Amino acid sequence: MTATDVSHVGLDSGARAVETTGEGPAQPTPWAPLRITAAEIRDTIERLSLGPAPANGRRSAALVHPESTSGRSFAPGVEVVVEVLLPGERTTPLRRNSSLVQIGVEGSGSVKVADTTLEMAARDVVTVPSMKPHQFVNTGEQRWVRLSYSNAPLLTFLGTHFWEELAEDWAPGVPVDGPIDMDEDNEVADRGSAPDHEVSPTGARLRGYEYLVDIEPVPNRPLHWPYPVMADLMSQTLGDGKRTIMALYNPATERKQGATGSFFVTLSRIPQGVRQRPEGPGHRHSSVAINYHVEGTGYSVVDGQRIDFAPGDLLLSAPSWREHAHYPSETGLTVYTVQDHPQHIGMESLIWQEDLNGPILALGLEKGQTGYVAPRNWDDE
Ligand SMILES: [Fe+2]
Repeated sequence: MTATDVSHVGLDSGARAVETTGEGPAQPTPWAPLRITAAEIRDTIERLSLGPAPANGRRSAALVHPESTSGRSFAPGVEVVVEVLLPGERTTPLRRNSSLVQIGVEGSGSVKVADTTLEMAARDVVTVPSMKPHQFVNTGEQRWVRLSYSNAPLLTFLGTHFWEELAEDWAPGVPVDGPIDMDEDNEVADRGSAPDHEVSPTGARLRGYEYLVDIEPVPNRPLHWPYPVMADLMSQTLGDGKRTIMALYNPATERKQGATGSFFVTLSRIPQGVRQRPEGPGHRHSSVAINYHVEGTGYSVVDGQRIDFAPGDLLLSAPSWREHAHYPSETGLTVYTVQDHPQHIGMESLIWQEDLNGPILALGLEKGQTGYVAPRNWDDE
């Protein structure tokens, strides 16, 4: 049975009862890999820089995959927006229930989030948590350009992306400050009065409504990862024993290991002079990987298709469940990778297959992938 000849019965309510009896197993339906070149991004930046600033200050363009059905996605659940602010420009403050990963491309400026102001330079990473009032201000002498990644397309698909402009004089709310003391009555509902019963030997419980609507908050601050500090902590020369890939971790994401609750961000730095390794099998995972190439050349192989990369390129280098591997040239490599890995952990949908002849693991639900040996070549995003 194909999607075009699904048999169904119309119901009086206007709904349909679609026949799924005897339906077979499902397989992921990934988009094609994609390379947006540095020149294309540069042209987009130049175009955004022309003309007067819009009323809300946002000179921006979403980089959209040809297979996007929403018209806004770079990967099915990920939006990547080029944002430009000329010297002296600022965006009007807003808040949204999507969260942001910002990677600095050129110039610098201030990111104002709730009661925090962060100074962001090129190659730095800054996160903006969901529902925090925020504003970008170009305080420098140069154009400020950022890549802004968000989970907006998934929320749009769910019909629940919320975004509101705030008054220019918005006053930051009271931030949650430090660890929550769960013993303080005012922090969350008095769980002492809420019923909570075990209803079977399986551990199933029946709980009061208070548990649903007064969730323990996890403090989630805007965070700043300065590029020079990270670069100094990673491998500088071949054989120095330092790491070549590390995760930009936000403690608020806890076991989900993200920069936001939706995305992890890794920085990969392969020193110059690395010997190009022979092509071999890759791995695959249900999360998608988007690589922003800062330095170095090489190529990725995605389901057998070779895609070359150069500095300034943005690649959908691992569409969900496509086999992929990466081969930096002797230039070495500096790359930011964004993956919707924490989001999948939250949905219990993160499946991972390191060896296509090996087991499919459900990361976060069972013993995970082992065997990582550091440092190693750049083959794991
Ligand atoms: Fe990967």
